[in-house]
Amino acid sequence: MTAIDRSRLQPLSAREKARFVAEHPKSKSLFERAQKSLLGGVPMNWMSKWPGAFPVFVESAQGAHFTDVDGHDYVDLCLGDTGAMTGHSPRPLVEAAEQQLRRGITLMLPTENAVWLGEELVRRFGLRYWQFALTATDANRFSIRLARMVTKRQRILVFNYCYHGTVDESFITLKDGVPVARRGNLGPPVDPAVTTRVVEFNDVDALERELGHGDVACVLMEPALTNVGIVHPNPGFHQALRDITRRHGTLLIADETHTICTGPGGYTQAHQLEPDFFVLGKPIASGIPAAVYGFTEEVGDRVRAQIRTEDCDTGGIGGTLAANAFSLAAMRVTLECVLTEQAYARMIPLAERFVAGVEDTIKKADVPWHVTRLGCRAEYLFTSKRPANGSEAAAAADFELEQFMHLYALNRGVLLTPFHNMALMSPATTPTDVDRHTEVFREAVRELQGN
Ligand SMILES: Cc1ncc(COP(=O)(O)O)c(C=O)c1O
Repeated sequence: MTAIDRSRLQPLSAREKARFVAEHPKSKSLFERAQKSLLGGVPMNWMSKWPGAFPVFVESAQGAHFTDVDGHDYVDLCLGDTGAMTGHSPRPLVEAAEQQLRRGITLMLPTENAVWLGEELVRRFGLRYWQFALTATDANRFSIRLARMVTKRQRILVFNYCYHGTVDESFITLKDGVPVARRGNLGPPVDPAVTTRVVEFNDVDALERELGHGDVACVLMEPALTNVGIVHPNPGFHQALRDITRRHGTLLIADETHTICTGPGGYTQAHQLEPDFFVLGKPIASGIPAAVYGFTEEVGDRVRAQIRTEDCDTGGIGGTLAANAFSLAAMRVTLECVLTEQAYARMIPLAERFVAGVEDTIKKADVPWHVTRLGCRAEYLFTSKRPANGSEAAAAADFELEQFMHLYALNRGVLLTPFHNMALMSPATTPTDVDRHTEVFREAVRELQGN
């Protein structure tokens, strides 16, 4: 296999950076203005990660496209890092949201939509009881709290290089086999090794060993890792994970915030998993802040038996705006009309098309990369070997090359997520959109090879 010519990367990157600045004068000027009031010129720190000297400022978005303030149109394969997996502002959502805006936004009282949603969530995902939150982070945090309360154990276990939102306990990695705070972890409340055990994904022996301590309330997992590239479970891994957790009295949380790309019932339904908790946020209300967490009858009954009504508002779960009427309406219409079986039947073949296009270039150019897929999500990695765990996936990261590939695509009207090389298909994405990426990807590799 031919490694790409690194000596070409630096001048090509410089050329792309200059092109980006020249073609985005209005974004540049907004970014300069933002320096006076926003830290780093961005409203949320992750936005500093976009390739190029500044992020593009958005004028409007619809379906799988958006337009920036300089008038460029983009195919959006980032889709708000899954928040807009529904496509931007799908019509049924806009209609339902407009109606609900006129009928009240938040009351701290339930609406009928809450009941409809509870019934639909039971039908889709199989768990018995449901509660609502505003972000997947919160839904994870609340699930962890409940797992601790039910098991009377302090610790949790996560997989190396996981991401589950800004959950303090999850910012831990293995360094030479020793658990340490993850690089970049800002102001951790305590050393995460105090709260968390961490093992490699797919490592059954390590799971057995760590859960054997008898102090782990729950395993918090993505059924396939999606936040360090896609890492699939080995055959039999989920069965082993479930057997081991049950044997050690540890509860299992499936965070399906990203793996909902697998199908309408998530990875859980597609692979008949049996988690004790199920978490879903981001696209569940088409990007309007909303999240859900569900749990089994056994967990629910144990929780209810332990919560006193008098203390239920200060127990560390819930929130004033959680389950507000607006986000309930948005979730209902999203599940009823947007993230449907028919939508997935369109989205998944598009991701297959993406994979086929990228794979063709990888093979023809003979670069040591590969492309992988989970439902309607696809991702290319800078290694020919499919990673078996988070460490192997992280070792394949190449930030300089990644930034170049992203900027090259951005300058040609295609937006990838700013984290690794992830692309997501929405119900509004078209084959032409996918082919646009394929073409741009082929050109980037061709230039890198100097052909
Ligand atoms: C698997 C997973 N869980 C939870 C979250 C957190 O979502 P949010 O930032 O909306 O709270 C993310 C965000 O990327 C995620 O990928």
